[in-house]
Amino acid sequence: MKTVTCIDDLRQLAKARVPRAFFDYADRGSYSEQTIAANSRDLSAITFRQRVMVDVSDRDLSTPILGETASLPLIHGPTGLEGMQHGDGEILAARACQDAGIPFCLSTMSICSIEDVVAAVAKPFWFQLYVMRDRGFARSLIERAAAARCNALVLTADLQIMGQRHRDIKNGMTVPPQIRLANLVDIATKPRWALSVLRGRRKTFGNLAGHVKGAEGVNTLAQWIAGQFDPSLSWDDMAWVRSLWPGRLVVKGILDPDDARQAVACGADAIVVSNHGGRQLDGAPSSIAVLPRIVDAVGDQTEVMFDGGIRTGQDMARALALGARSCMAGKAFLYGLGAGGQAGVAKVIEILRKELDVTMALTGVRRIAEVDRRILFS
Ligand code: GLV
Repeated sequence: MKTVTCIDDLRQLAKARVPRAFFDYADRGSYSEQTIAANSRDLSAITFRQRVMVDVSDRDLSTPILGETASLPLIHGPTGLEGMQHGDGEILAARACQDAGIPFCLSTMSICSIEDVVAAVAKPFWFQLYVMRDRGFARSLIERAAAARCNALVLTADLQIMGQRHRDIKNGMTVPPQIRLANLVDIATKPRWALSVLRGRRKTFGNLAGHVKGAEGVNTLAQWIAGQFDPSLSWDDMAWVRSLWPGRLVVKGILDPDDARQAVACGADAIVVSNHGGRQLDGAPSSIAVLPRIVDAVGDQTEVMFDGGIRTGQDMARALALGARSCMAGKAFLYGLGAGGQAGVAKVIEILRKELDVTMALTGVRRIAEVDRRILFS
């Protein structure tokens, strides 16, 4: 791999290596992309309070996440189509996370199935659930996650209808990928990608193909989602999921204190403050803007996780300082995967770890539990 010093280097490499339709799918947001822009703008507006002459020689970034020790407060968030950034992407990402001692969450919309991943990795992973129109299918996904001994179920609450991503439509993104005139040159100039995806176990939605009627015939993501996602989704469904899943249940996609309280009342063990990486409600506030209100509302009753624009360890420190207990990243991991497979994902974790470590040292703290508002200038 070329000299890589930051997540943006990995983004550039991924952009060069992954066909445009899949890079854009990972990289972009919905509509005018105001929320995706707000996520990074609002994070970078938060400045640190530099402290000097504090002995910070003995630093420790480890922290409990859902009761298990992670080597740093970072979670690989659920992201669709990892196997289209790199062949067998989900397995490679899970292995990198497990080697580094952080949780990996597999998406319902993955290419490798739950069963593929469990057969290929050593430790338990988390599973993200979309409750489909077909509740029987949703139940079977929960049962499959339980059979795979997944150690947390992440219920995504903010995609009962899909925000339009203009690029996906313009690029005509299809799963499985189709080689057409329009993308022939693109794919032909990305031989590493083509080879890895060709060698990968699967080329379509692994959790769905062969399990849900009709998923095979329809090949555009938008079409498929339009048919399967369920606008009637409500807190009653969360109660139903809670009744089926005895393990740790995380609700992802919370931006409002009332919703946070409701999720806790329905038995969430953790919530993820998230605007789906700016891919859903365009014009929604950045995740960092709403984080303090949500921590005030439920931070003493549940574990609050942060998701939305993490590109640096400095961003992680900002979210932790405002009350998050851990951070999820999505796009950053996809860039790493597209750039360099398992090594690229490992690089993401290493970069974020080092940046967080240096930020803690220069703000005068040595433990994750000490990262609070006192490290902030603004
Ligand atoms: C799926 O979760 C997506 O954002 O595409």
